[in-house]
Amino acid sequence: MYMLDLLGVLYCGFAEFASPVNIIIGSHVWVEDPKLAWIDGEVTRINGDEVHVQTSNGKAVVTNISKVFPKDTEAPPGGVDDMTRLSYLHEPGVLQNLATRYELNEIYTYTGNILIAVNPFQRLPHLYDTHMMEQYKGAALGELSPHVFAIGDVAYRAMINEGKSNSILVSGESGAGKTETTKMLMRYLAYLGGRSGVEGRTVEQQVLEYKLGNPKSFHYLNQSNCYELDGIDDADEYLALRRAMDIVGISEEEQEAIFRVVAAILHLGNVNFVKGEEIDSSAIRDDKSRFHLNTAAELLRCDVQSLEDALIKRVMVTPEEVITRTLDPDNALASRDALAKTIYSRLFDWIVEKINISIGQDPNSNSIIGVLDIYGFESFKFNSFEQFCINFTNEKLQQHFNQHVFKMEQEEYSKEEINWSYIEFVDNQDVLDLIEKSPSLDDIDCDFNHLQKPGGIISLLDEAW
Ligand SMILES: Nc1ncnc2c1ncn2[C@@H]1O[C@H](COP(=O)(O)OP(=O)(O)O)[C@@H](O)[C@H]1O
Ligand SMILES: [Mg+2]
Repeated sequence: MYMLDLLGVLYCGFAEFASPVNIIIGSHVWVEDPKLAWIDGEVTRINGDEVHVQTSNGKAVVTNISKVFPKDTEAPPGGVDDMTRLSYLHEPGVLQNLATRYELNEIYTYTGNILIAVNPFQRLPHLYDTHMMEQYKGAALGELSPHVFAIGDVAYRAMINEGKSNSILVSGESGAGKTETTKMLMRYLAYLGGRSGVEGRTVEQQVLEYKLGNPKSFHYLNQSNCYELDGIDDADEYLALRRAMDIVGISEEEQEAIFRVVAAILHLGNVNFVKGEEIDSSAIRDDKSRFHLNTAAELLRCDVQSLEDALIKRVMVTPEEVITRTLDPDNALASRDALAKTIYSRLFDWIVEKINISIGQDPNSNSIIGVLDIYGFESFKFNSFEQFCINFTNEKLQQHFNQHVFKMEQEEYSKEEINWSYIEFVDNQDVLDLIEKSPSLDDIDCDFNHLQKPGGIISLLDEAW
């Protein structure tokens, strides 16, 4: 089961979907527009592959026939709630349908059993109230208007009735509405689960009230230059966070430990370096940095000298010996950030574990519903290893999506000898091979030497390291 927002689905390359249709003089068509993405118009002249179109906003456009898409002039005025009912499943047709529905505050649309959500950028409380939840309970997919609750319901029914585990994947660009959607899904699943937790709080309250606050001022926090947000009060958020921690069963002592670790990470971020006396070495920059180092060590309850060594030295263990190498200031900085990220990630895992225990996750449960709220594709002016990993993860998910939606489905049609026309899609397997392929031993050559075929980027990075 998948739930993708608009961009997630478009990435499959809808432009390839167009089935060949006769374009003649007088045809109603879509052509690309630099501002609007697509604009409709009428074909006025055809010259070989060259098509002249008079657009509805008064422009005369000349373009190649491969870039002209037929427009469905008989599409229902309110759009269709399942894209598979569109006469032409191509990018302009899909966007037009979503735009029409969006105008009517219909933010959800199906494409088969995939749900597309468009960010409404306004609260639509009537969509998510208890009455709505009650409506979707037990209703078959497609029986009611498209909704995120319907997706949750299918997953839940499959788990209860057939003992099947399900994953719901929420994908899309940053800001598309993934986290909001995930919260609605969790609220609905918690509602269906309907079990009371500690102190009379429902599972839903326990899960949803748990969110981490965002303390400001420190290097790790000030890089956006944004310190205040309208309608957000840090003190209130902090109190809400402490209350949520109480509810979820994190003891006073554990809460102190969490804040100690977070504070230590922030102090670590303010430790800076200068060149040391030896070549390619570094030292703590000044008294300020020394203060932050001392405080971080104190908060982490570790030896300050060991912490300093961990930042400015690298230890390599080989089968023969243990080699200690000093790091130049740039590498010391990278090592500081790596340590901070590792501590943060371990703390995060610990908190997740804690919440799972607290809300009574059954370790012997045979089936689960996984909800994946993933970071979307990122492309900045300067991209780091982190963007590489994020984008690689998204490519993997895209492949999974392709496998299910296109490859498996079409194989099934072939097997059952159903009459259908093959849908072209952009298979990103080559991209995945480029990144993750492991080096393979080639056939043994005539000298009986093994030839090693190079692997993908990750194995090359491994070797270089
Ligand atoms: N279903 C929704 N209803 C109301 N507002 C929404 C909805 N989805 C997204 N938003 C708005 O868009 C913002 C960004 O959404 P978010 O879920 O944080 O994006 P993402 O996780 O994809 O980066 C939210 O803070 C909220 O204001
Ligand atoms: Mg998010």
